[in-house]
Amino acid sequence: MIVKRITLDFFRNYLHLECAFSPATNVIYGENAQGKTNLLEAVAYLSTASSHRARYDRELIQLGVDSAWIQAEVFAREREFALEARLSRGTRRQLSANGVRLKSAGELSGVLNTVLFCPEDLSLIRDGAAARRRFLDECICQLRPRYAMALAEYKKLYEHKIRILRDWTEKPSLLDALDEFSLRMAQTGAVLIHYRAHFIRRLQEVVPPIHSDFSGGRERLDLRYETVKTVTDPEAPMRDILSQLLEHQESHRQAELESRQCLSGPHKDDLAVDLDGVSAKTYASQGQTRTAALSLKLGCREIFFHDTGEWPVLLLDDVLSELDHRRQEFVLNRIAGGQVFITCCEDDRLEGLGEGSTFHIHNGRLV
Ligand SMILES: Nc1ncnc2c1ncn2[C@@H]1O[C@H](COP(=O)(O)OP(=O)(O)OP(=O)(O)O)[C@@H](O)[C@H]1O
Ligand SMILES: [Mg+2]
Repeated sequence: MIVKRITLDFFRNYLHLECAFSPATNVIYGENAQGKTNLLEAVAYLSTASSHRARYDRELIQLGVDSAWIQAEVFAREREFALEARLSRGTRRQLSANGVRLKSAGELSGVLNTVLFCPEDLSLIRDGAAARRRFLDECICQLRPRYAMALAEYKKLYEHKIRILRDWTEKPSLLDALDEFSLRMAQTGAVLIHYRAHFIRRLQEVVPPIHSDFSGGRERLDLRYETVKTVTDPEAPMRDILSQLLEHQESHRQAELESRQCLSGPHKDDLAVDLDGVSAKTYASQGQTRTAALSLKLGCREIFFHDTGEWPVLLLDDVLSELDHRRQEFVLNRIAGGQVFITCCEDDRLEGLGEGSTFHIHNGRLV
């Protein structure tokens, strides 16, 4: 998959930018706060209709302006696509491919896939389970539209059930709907667990070898899926998972009413990461944390390749400069093949990048 050209209007600090990219490596360099990450964010938006660092679309629109526009020419799935995202304050965003309106972010992922790695991704290893669930959700949503739909449905049901549990003592009639919501959450939850289990099994195949190469064969990384306790085999057929989820819900019903919290379901799932048999979250050093997080992302990139037959666009924000020379070289060898965008600061020297283009960004402009 290749982003051949991008045009930005009123996106973040870009008034207007037109840029043609190399199908190989694109180095985006410049001083701090000039717009390097913003450019990567725009590319990523065209595959997920979301940003890794903005909570609301309106943050992406230039301050003092009403709408922003991202347009790109993309070559993917052996075809040319003209992708467009138009963001406006106050109205819904509009996405289109070749002039046809798209109904969901999933349809964009059906054209373009991206894998982004940025310094904040260290949270993948260090933070609580939510960061790792987000990683799983982002990856699986790009590959499986059915998962994206189930996830959106589950979130809605969860919000609803939370409201019932919060307010039931003041309004006992709310309890009439509780079992119905619990049942639908278990049904949708079984879909989530099924897809997560299969995705994690594939991560288990690709990530440990990457991490091992990365660490010069010195470290062993293991991944484990942690889900609802009663689920004995998350890869089992969905109906088996469903009955085990119902069993867990039943045994937690009273506790949920008393604590007014939703205690049962895959919204508490985790992907445990161990290094040499101990929890990476608790024991990994800074270097190990960075290596493990990057291995997860590169593993995800390989799964995309196996699934779609094409390399997703890899977006590396500010990462290479933080690795020592040997590790830089490892990453550069490992990512050969697809299109890559790498940001770095002006005076970082990235050697051995091979063919590609270099872009100097200054104050929201291409110099
Ligand atoms: N909605 C917006 N409207 C106008 N400017 C914005 C908007 N959002 C962010 N900016 C500005 O864009 C600038 C560049 O941000 P960006 O994160 O791309 O910098 P960067 O080049 O990646 O810098 P660094 O090297 O520090 O990571 C920032 O100064 C920020 O204030
Ligand atoms: Mg940046």
